[in-house]
Amino acid sequence: MASPLKNFIHFFLICTIHFISSSTAKTSTRPKGLILPVYKDLSTHQYITEIKQRTPLVPVKLAVDLGAEFLWVNCEKDFTTSSYKPALCNSAPCKLSKSIACTTECYSAAKPGCTNNTCALFPENTIAPIQTSGSLGSDAIEVQSGAGSVTVPNFLFVCGSTILLDKLASGVTGMTGLGRAKISMPSQFFSAFGLRRKFGVCLSSTPSKGSIFFGEFDSSTAPLTHTPLLTNPVSLSSTKEPSAEYFIGVTAIHINGKAVHVNPALLSIKNDTGHGGTKISTVDKYTVLEASIYKAVEHAFVKELNVPRVRSVAPFGACFDSKKIGTAYSGPAVPTIDLVLQSKDVYWRIYGANSMVQVSKDVSCLGFVDGGVDSRTSIVIGGHQVEENLLEIDLKASQLGFSPLVYRKQICANFKFAAKA
Ligand SMILES: *[C@@H]1O[C@H](CO)[C@@H](O)[C@H](O)[C@H]1NC(C)=O
Ligand SMILES: *[C@@H]1O[C@H](CO)[C@@H](O)[C@H](O)[C@H]1NC(C)=O
Repeated sequence: MASPLKNFIHFFLICTIHFISSSTAKTSTRPKGLILPVYKDLSTHQYITEIKQRTPLVPVKLAVDLGAEFLWVNCEKDFTTSSYKPALCNSAPCKLSKSIACTTECYSAAKPGCTNNTCALFPENTIAPIQTSGSLGSDAIEVQSGAGSVTVPNFLFVCGSTILLDKLASGVTGMTGLGRAKISMPSQFFSAFGLRRKFGVCLSSTPSKGSIFFGEFDSSTAPLTHTPLLTNPVSLSSTKEPSAEYFIGVTAIHINGKAVHVNPALLSIKNDTGHGGTKISTVDKYTVLEASIYKAVEHAFVKELNVPRVRSVAPFGACFDSKKIGTAYSGPAVPTIDLVLQSKDVYWRIYGANSMVQVSKDVSCLGFVDGGVDSRTSIVIGGHQVEENLLEIDLKASQLGFSPLVYRKQICANFKFAAKA
């Protein structure tokens, strides 16, 4: 890693959470909030969290998927528990899940993931990607609540199989589902503990310091910019439900304050096909842009930066001699990239730390990827661009709050749950 970025990383802050008041480690039935610690696996660039599940409880590592409908775990291997309950076809949990399929008979010995008359869903490894059928059930889980931890006895999840683990980081046996669905992890946490329907996401580029937190938190030290969360009416899954993913309304892209020419039709979500629009992803490593948007952004960025290009390094297109790029407080001194939202004064500004990727000692690249002409979603804001930003997903208000430059203002390190929920 070259020195500008390395120096900069020392500024990076660590998303730890402190409760304002709790000095006792006693577990209350109604915690102020819940925390999933998140670390980045540096060999795969996956964001990984850990919960405890089953009876007796065992740690379960999960890749973080922000837009998925439900938690899924591999039940085919090393799944031992005395508290698993299958969700029967037409049961209340089955209806809640919007399942449209029922496994009437499983032909091998009964075990979690193989039971008769069980509600079927389709867990997906969105990283590989690969999707299979799976079955809905519940088991106990334990999550951190700051000083202590809390248990949810019947937490709904989907049993997947070993084949679904393809390309996941070592030791990972499932994926989170943090999307907009009745059986998503946030929905179950909110209803189990009566929490306000919002959660925060703070991914870190360092291997151990991110977190996802649920409930009311004190954002007084974190000036958030807000934009409406949009719903894509067409889901990728087999249900007729809207997509569980989080979309926002990008209306223009500015580089160094100058508008980049993009086809506005690509920026809105097409109601009939679900194509177009902008979503936030924790499974894409880098922001993926539809081909014409990518080309326009790359062209404008190269022109504004005005540093000679070097040979491209896949998957990136525009790469530079990093010795010729200065260092600013917010990373490499490169043109800002603004995703303009509902008005020209409301934008998600991407600074050098989030736009550039150091690929070798002397080469850094614009960390955006060309998604081709057939991309379903025109702009997928990926992990590298989300890191060190605080995102607040408020499902009650249906809005996204975001606070770039978290590393500079030390927001995550000073994060607090509100004294009163
Ligand atoms: C499912 O039901 C069939 C028929 O009643 C039975 O033979 C079989 O053992 C059951 N399988 C499981 C996994 O419970
Ligand atoms: C999509 O649907 C929304 C809500 O029903 C509507 O306001 C909007 O105009 C529609 N957009 C298009 C492009 O048809």
